[in-house]
Amino acid sequence: MLAPLPAYQAASEDEAPRASALLPVYAQLPVEPVAGRGALLTTRDGRRLVDFYGGHAVALLGYRHPRLTAAIERQARELLFQSNAVPAAVRERAAAALAAIAPEGLDRVLFVNSGAEANENALRLAFRATGRSRVVALEGAFHGRTAAAAAVTWRSERWYAFPRKPFEVVFVPHEADALAAAVDETTAALIVEPVQGVAGAVPVGRDLLAAAREATGRAGALLIFDEVQCGLGRLGAPFAARLYDVTPDLLTVGKGLAGGLPAAAVVARAEAVAAVAPGDLGTTFGGGPVVMAAVEAVIGALLDEGLMPRVRVLSERIRRRCRVGPVAAIQGEGLLLGLRTTRPAAAIQRELLERGFLVGTSADPHVVRLLPPLVLEAAQVDALAAALAELPA
Ligand SMILES: Cc1ncc(COP(=O)(O)O)c(C=O)c1O
Repeated sequence: MLAPLPAYQAASEDEAPRASALLPVYAQLPVEPVAGRGALLTTRDGRRLVDFYGGHAVALLGYRHPRLTAAIERQARELLFQSNAVPAAVRERAAAALAAIAPEGLDRVLFVNSGAEANENALRLAFRATGRSRVVALEGAFHGRTAAAAAVTWRSERWYAFPRKPFEVVFVPHEADALAAAVDETTAALIVEPVQGVAGAVPVGRDLLAAAREATGRAGALLIFDEVQCGLGRLGAPFAARLYDVTPDLLTVGKGLAGGLPAAAVVARAEAVAAVAPGDLGTTFGGGPVVMAAVEAVIGALLDEGLMPRVRVLSERIRRRCRVGPVAAIQGEGLLLGLRTTRPAAAIQRELLERGFLVGTSADPHVVRLLPPLVLEAAQVDALAAALAELPA
């Protein structure tokens, strides 16, 4: 006989759980956002926070965006889920919308659920297309935490935990010569984050991207741009590939793709995926109707609401006004920016939180990372600048 189970007793919404059942793998900030509008969050204890972090760059359209919430509500009422076993018009529309803003010639889309999963599949496609198994990646790169994505992540050994990496990986510094020397006829792919996010908003630079294109083209290897963090309008252009005018063979996108629901994609040049057949790749949730409705709304808003020109204006404003107090320099591109600080970034993050601003840190202990929603307002930038100016240098 099965032992009887206790009835589920939901705590009231305002009641904090007594003992957490969650695995303690995150060092959490001491605030609990419970609502938001635009780039403004309200916490459980009634404080207001301007969100310059966007939930790891996911809240691309901020909070309570009318077009996004309406699309999710409508689709959830009509048909919450069906898998890729059946066609879906909303999935086709989302793929067409993504292909329309992707770099020239990249028009084949695979929807998955996370950035790591997108990179995992992009690498797999490169191995298939080339019949090779060696990958070149850049120092400082972050590509995710699954077996293959973490294998191409710089210094993942600290947390990798799998007994061995699934293929050979060579890391190169941000130098064209080193990169050209590392890419040869055994290389399946070179994977690059055009602006390295976790590293602290570090642009790889147009010249190195062009060198990457040249080296992979020469060796018959595929060039993968991981635009999971920097893509989708965040740089003031739909993708870094378009901003820098360097076109990869495969591009991965994630984070804000569905504005807050789990969504990611691989976007490919047709020749790079010519041999793909049913059964080669797959996922249960990827391309589900509610998420696809959200993708369509996010891309629609990005184009219709002038968010990319807005990014360029706001980025310029941050660069002009926020080099004050402990901020010695500002690096990055668009609204993926790193404030280089004279004191440890973690301390600045705490001090800003006390003053009502949520910001991120990075792998660089002296870089505060800004990844705000693209609907951020100029007055919110000015308020951050004023708060920074009050902090000890
Ligand atoms: C550039 C980049 N690639 C991949 C990932 C992994 O994405 P996910 O956490 O959705 O698997 C991240 C996450 O931070 C990222 O910044």
